Amino acid sequence: MSRLVVISNRVAVPKARGAAGAQGGLAGALNAALRKNGGIWFGWSGQGVDQFTGSINYARSGDGVTTATIDLEYQDVDEYYNGYANSTLWPLFHFRLDLTRYENEFGVGYERVNERFAEAVVPLIAPDDDIWVHDYHLMPLGEQLREKGVKNRIGFFLHIPWPPTNLLVSLPFHERLVRALLRYDLIGLQNGTWLDSFLHYCRKELGAEVDERTGTVVLDGRKTIAKAYPIGIDYDHFMSKGETGEARQAQQRLQSSTRHRTAMIGVDRLDYSKGLPERLDGIGRFFDNYPERVRDLVFIQIAPPSREDVQSYQHIRAVLEQKTGQINGARSEVDIVPIRYVNRGHSQEELFGFYRGAKIGLVTPLRDGMNLVAKEYVAAQDATDPGVLILSKFAGAAPQLDCDGEGALMINPHSSDDIAHNIRLALDMPLEERKARWERMIGTVRDDNVHWWTENFVGDLAAIELD
Ligand code: F6P
Repeated sequence: MSRLVVISNRVAVPKARGAAGAQGGLAGALNAALRKNGGIWFGWSGQGVDQFTGSINYARSGDGVTTATIDLEYQDVDEYYNGYANSTLWPLFHFRLDLTRYENEFGVGYERVNERFAEAVVPLIAPDDDIWVHDYHLMPLGEQLREKGVKNRIGFFLHIPWPPTNLLVSLPFHERLVRALLRYDLIGLQNGTWLDSFLHYCRKELGAEVDERTGTVVLDGRKTIAKAYPIGIDYDHFMSKGETGEARQAQQRLQSSTRHRTAMIGVDRLDYSKGLPERLDGIGRFFDNYPERVRDLVFIQIAPPSREDVQSYQHIRAVLEQKTGQINGARSEVDIVPIRYVNRGHSQEELFGFYRGAKIGLVTPLRDGMNLVAKEYVAAQDATDPGVLILSKFAGAAPQLDCDGEGALMINPHSSDDIAHNIRLALDMPLEERKARWERMIGTVRDDNVHWWTENFVGDLAAIELD
């Protein structure tokens, strides 16, 4: 088997900031893939410096994964990470044209950093390596590598949604971005919806030859395969966290502090794509519609801050604080506070315990590439008394967890009434139905896990014939 060179913006799971699911699936998933397959993981160190040097810092994680990172200039961090990646591509790919900023210097910084990545990583690549690039930060990297003479197989996986063509065309130089993407040999998307949008764009805007059945896209005589690979959690690893004292204590803490009330939990990076204000509106509507049930339910929202230098993220934080305050002000009693809003990350062990102690998991993104919190919530349940998952139909995980209409309770996150109604259904759901729904979901969460995802992608990449 060829050695794997994995390249992503972020490298390694950020310490003490929470589970993979809460922090975005990428770091946890790649850590798991490399633990199992070996290889090297290249990316940004997370550090800013005055002057770019390109020198590589090597490290070996406790899990035995070798990481190679470079520092970026402060200007790179502003223009590439805060700028093009998180103020242009992220909102646009999450269907938020209203938040998308198009600045020339962002695009220039994005290309500069992709070139810096390519220059630094090329000397680490051996002729037999397979290269696997990740996410929207690095869409032009394949082209940069090709221009530097790299002949290896190169795959790319997008962890976020692919937007409909009529949104994507609002991006200046959209053709250039997607043409560069087509220099990869294999492109992975999270599900069939994003894949269809991608293929539609290639045919309509680039005039590429597209075969929907095989996912083959031919442009200027070059062939790329595009396919859906839904990412999963590192199931066994996550389940082992549930056996720790820390997980048991966390569950107990949650249950003893909520006593006779049902705990409902949300765990998300503090990001506008997660539908947090809409979620709070839905909970507010639930208390408006069923005021007597304020004694039955307590909602715990864990939301570690994210991308704090980007304005839209500062704004969402302020909105959430205001909405939580309003609902608690209106609905609290001297002995009851309906919403607990926790603005920091937790370890995977603690999260496991919180998920297990909460009888409802509320996952309401407006758009999400996948959403691993939904899968972690299902994994952490007790088979004899499982909780209910309420899930947005716009999460990438929806096709897997709806289980023919009898898995998660599906909601439209834009509708407060729909959220409120489904909270009531979940609260009153009899044990037999909870078990039946959970049993339908657990199979895909356990079997279609992160190793299955890696094997599928890496296997397909390795099978590509080089010219
Ligand atoms: O999963 C999507 C993603 O953007 C990853 O690429 C990223 O590592 C994660 O979410 C968290 O975001 P950030 O690295 O900006 O903190």
